Amino acid sequence: MAGRAGARHLLLTGRSGAASEAATQAVAKMRADGVDVVVAKADVSDERQVAGVIEEIRHSMPPLRGVVHAAGILDDGVLMQLDEERFATVMAPKVNGAWNLHRLTLEDDLDFFVLFSSAASVLGSPGQGNYVAANAFLDALAHHRRALGMPALAINWGAWTEVGLATRSDRVEHLTRQGIMPFTPEQGVLLMERMLERDLVQCMGVAMDWGKILGSYTPPVLSRLSEEVLAGEGPAKKDSSVRKDILAAEPEERRGLVERFLVEQIAQVLKCSPTKGDAYEPLNRLGIDSLMAVELKNRVEADLETSLPVTALLQGPSLSQLATQLLEGLDAPAAEAPEEAEDGLEAQVEGLTDEEVDALLRDLVKEEEKAEG
Ligand SMILES: NC(=O)c1ccc[n+]([C@@H]2O[C@H](COP(=O)([O-])OP(=O)(O)OC[C@H]3O[C@@H](n4cnc5c(N)ncnc54)[C@H](OP(=O)(O)O)[C@@H]3O)[C@@H](O)[C@H]2O)c1
Repeated sequence: MAGRAGARHLLLTGRSGAASEAATQAVAKMRADGVDVVVAKADVSDERQVAGVIEEIRHSMPPLRGVVHAAGILDDGVLMQLDEERFATVMAPKVNGAWNLHRLTLEDDLDFFVLFSSAASVLGSPGQGNYVAANAFLDALAHHRRALGMPALAINWGAWTEVGLATRSDRVEHLTRQGIMPFTPEQGVLLMERMLERDLVQCMGVAMDWGKILGSYTPPVLSRLSEEVLAGEGPAKKDSSVRKDILAAEPEERRGLVERFLVEQIAQVLKCSPTKGDAYEPLNRLGIDSLMAVELKNRVEADLETSLPVTALLQGPSLSQLATQLLEGLDAPAAEAPEEAEDGLEAQVEGLTDEEVDALLRDLVKEEEKAEG
């Protein structure tokens, strides 16, 4: 992109410099294309270090004409698990970093000031409260700069494939399942060029499978659009072969299939994947609250065609215990599943507000913790 945009002098910074194999290759390619590339180690969240880098540019390079802020890190977890430190870690490169670049280049005559934000700050992203907040700051900074008459573009990226944060762990697969389709670096660069040409201040660059995303979860910001899209094509059809596949498998393979299915469903509901170690943790400790329990029940019942009372989930089983329970019920069709006792927990839940259900859930966890000693 640097070459195509006519930039002949680039200064790239990161805490580790261009240390990775991919970064070394990218720098070599740009140099081969005739771009003068300087790599400097600096932590963008540290004002002194950023000032040092800018000083270096002023002494040894042509005038600074543009800034692209793309520093970012992830530390995902449901809100209850995110403490001050985990917020500060994720906020530092984005909030402090972008603010340092903004303040220290106020006197420079820039053509562009691009902030790599995320679609997460527009659409929301359960399990990424710290990341969402950090990116929301970038969006606000772009508008603030424009209000001051300065160039700014915040790009709310969806998922990139081949490079970057989303390719680590199974994030791309997770996003694809939700309906956010990844695009290649070439497509991303093209999009960014178009946004700059149109002089936009904030723009979301996301490839969406609308049927999928609106069929499973409608971000509030898309609710109007959702009505139009769903009226046109209807939500994505679910794959109803899960139960068939499990029943067709050898008995010793069934447990693995049910557990994998549960991991996928829990990941969809929590919008972040449980780890292997989470299999023995009560679901409510993974962050499944009462509303999520209802969503999980609906998903499991629709795909496995078996009954899963919401009370069974509210009692806080682990994923592994739930798999056992579902395996036992799989041979019986849903219609024959036993009705829940009228005077049981479900009867207690009937008629309660969400807050009351959450309080009940907390009491159950406390009781369970007491029982565990
Ligand atoms: N990839 C995607 O699908 C996607 C989607 C939405 C938004 N984004 C945003 O796009 C940006 C780039 O993401 P990416 O996927 O390319 O991630 P990446 O490959 O992990 O690159 C992030 C870069 O930030 C640098 N960095 C982190 N903390 C820093 C700090 N304190 N000071 C200086 N540099 C720092 C890292 O280098 P060091 O570790 O050496 O410091 C790394 O080179 C991020 O802001 C991300 O939030 C990406």
